[in-house]
Amino acid sequence: MKHEVIEKNIGLMLLLMILCVSIGGLTQIVPLFFEDVTNTPVEGMKPYTALQLEGRDIYIREGCVQCHSQMIRPFRAETERYGHYSVAGESVWDHPFLWGSKRTGPDLARVGARYSDDWHRAHLYNPRNVVPESKMPAYPWLVESPVDSSHTQTKLKVMRTLGVPYSDEEIANAKQSVQGKTEMDALVAYLQVLGTAIKSKR
Ligand code: HEC
Repeated sequence: MKHEVIEKNIGLMLLLMILCVSIGGLTQIVPLFFEDVTNTPVEGMKPYTALQLEGRDIYIREGCVQCHSQMIRPFRAETERYGHYSVAGESVWDHPFLWGSKRTGPDLARVGARYSDDWHRAHLYNPRNVVPESKMPAYPWLVESPVDSSHTQTKLKVMRTLGVPYSDEEIANAKQSVQGKTEMDALVAYLQVLGTAIKSKR
């Protein structure tokens, strides 16, 4: 009988639904902010260098995340293909994280050190150079565009306020360390470090 009141009053029903979903969400999500397993970096992991961080921003700008996930799920079919499944501790310094949810291309969570720098350069310049059947877009302008170093130092500083342990020295040298580099150098440097904090036997 009482339920009838709720069923016949859409406003009340909505309110109660929102309340239920919020409590459910809070009890599932909030504890994750405080658990060690989601907050402790993987042992031996290093923060991105200034060049890698700039490369990551180019990855974001070019929309690579629209076609590539960086999240290996703990299923055999995935670990056989990509290597050790992704763990939370690998993403603690990623702001924002780039796990993605679309795989038009392969997952890139452990692409680091899988190919040579030259392979990546040739591939990004025009994927058909190395993978004839590829439908990935070409990014030839990266070779000609110098890295914009005007915000590099600020980017590292912002990351530090978010908990990434950059030293004063790293911040001081940030701008200088990306000068003279192209966007291609930065993107390849970023790709080559992906997933390398965990040794995988792939
Ligand atoms: C329209 C979808 C699409 C976009 C956007 C895209 N890719 Fe791809 N990518 C693919 C496909 C499909 C493949 C598989 C064929 C190949 O190797 O070229 C691939 C393959 C790759 C590989 C090789 C992975 C492996 O394990 O063999 C890398 C590295 C890569 N992409 C990086 C990038 C980067 C960096 C960007 C952004 C600059 C990007 N991709 C943007 C679709 C895309």
